Amino acid sequence: MDGLTVREQAPPTPGPGQVVVRVLAASLNRRDLMLMEGSYPLPARPGVVPLSDGVGEVILVGDDVTRVAVGDRVSSTYFLHWVDGPQRLARVREQFGATYDGWLATYVVLDEDSIVVPPAHLTDAEAASLTCGGVVAWKALTGPVPLTAEATVLTVGTGVVALFAVQFARMHGARVISITSTPDKAKRLRELGADLVVDRTATPDWEHAVADATGGDGVDHVVDAVGMPTLPKSVASAAFNANITLIGAFPATEPIIDVFGGRYLSIRRIAVGSRTDYEAMNRAIAEHGMRPVVDRIVDFADGVEAYRYFRDDNPFGKVVIAQS
Ligand SMILES: NC(=O)c1ccc[n+]([C@@H]2O[C@H](COP(=O)([O-])OP(=O)(O)OC[C@H]3O[C@@H](n4cnc5c(N)ncnc54)[C@H](OP(=O)(O)O)[C@@H]3O)[C@@H](O)[C@H]2O)c1
Repeated sequence: MDGLTVREQAPPTPGPGQVVVRVLAASLNRRDLMLMEGSYPLPARPGVVPLSDGVGEVILVGDDVTRVAVGDRVSSTYFLHWVDGPQRLARVREQFGATYDGWLATYVVLDEDSIVVPPAHLTDAEAASLTCGGVVAWKALTGPVPLTAEATVLTVGTGVVALFAVQFARMHGARVISITSTPDKAKRLRELGADLVVDRTATPDWEHAVADATGGDGVDHVVDAVGMPTLPKSVASAAFNANITLIGAFPATEPIIDVFGGRYLSIRRIAVGSRTDYEAMNRAIAEHGMRPVVDRIVDFADGVEAYRYFRDDNPFGKVVIAQS
């Protein structure tokens, strides 16, 4: 974890339309390791404060701020200024914890349009867990073809994105089939709501198990939270006219000759979501009393250990760094 250094931070002053937030908790995503390793598509700004996901209390409010007040608990969007509508390339580079200072800090400065108010029933650790993995899973399942209770959803991988996808799919009443790699994770996925879990270690040809479980039809939605290595099997698991959202960024391990595998279906890649997506997700989380899966909460002083644990110890759920 050579990329991490600690430095003192004085309380910032908000400019017009900005707020200063005292951080309560922040959490790690795969992209934070990728940014540190240099494998993320966007290079990190040298010296940037990491982490896109976090929550804190507004302590100072600049001129013209109307959406929040001192004392409010807030998070931020992933992209600074994607409020609504289609994502535009010009704004993709504006990311907390990558090109703009993120949440692994004592204080964060937010422009007003980046602010999101998390569901009130969540703990600080849970509220700090939503921005990246939560929003992208929500967007995957509520996208161009929204999920219905009649649908079957396949989740691939057992990282944070897949766990959120299981929860959101069950929230919509859909049937969920999940792919994982160990009996322990399989048990925990079932406890989270998955109707059927296939262990890819015991059943490497898991697309056949998915076909069997759907009477040969295949699933209606796939949330592939691994990437190119699993795409061919995700395609083989999909029904006619299904929707596959390819979220995982793992590169192909062998050539893929025909990405559609001769099937008629849609495959799309998405990058997190807008503030409007985030707010819709938060309303649904509040309505259903849903809670994100938190694996471990580590004190800020042990932040390097949080990174190591996240990288090496295969967590089930979010790894959170809390300010004491
Ligand atoms: N596009 C976006 O907006 C967006 C947002 C968030 C994350 N991501 C990307 O989505 C991916 C998932 O992120 P995450 O945080 O949810 O999880 P993660 O911590 O990257 O874990 C991914 C999981 O995938 C499974 N896996 C890994 N290699 C596999 C393989 N070859 N075959 C099958 N399964 C495999 C593992 O689960 P099992 O051991 O249980 O199989 C692992 O726990 C990452 O690549 C991340 O960068 C993209």
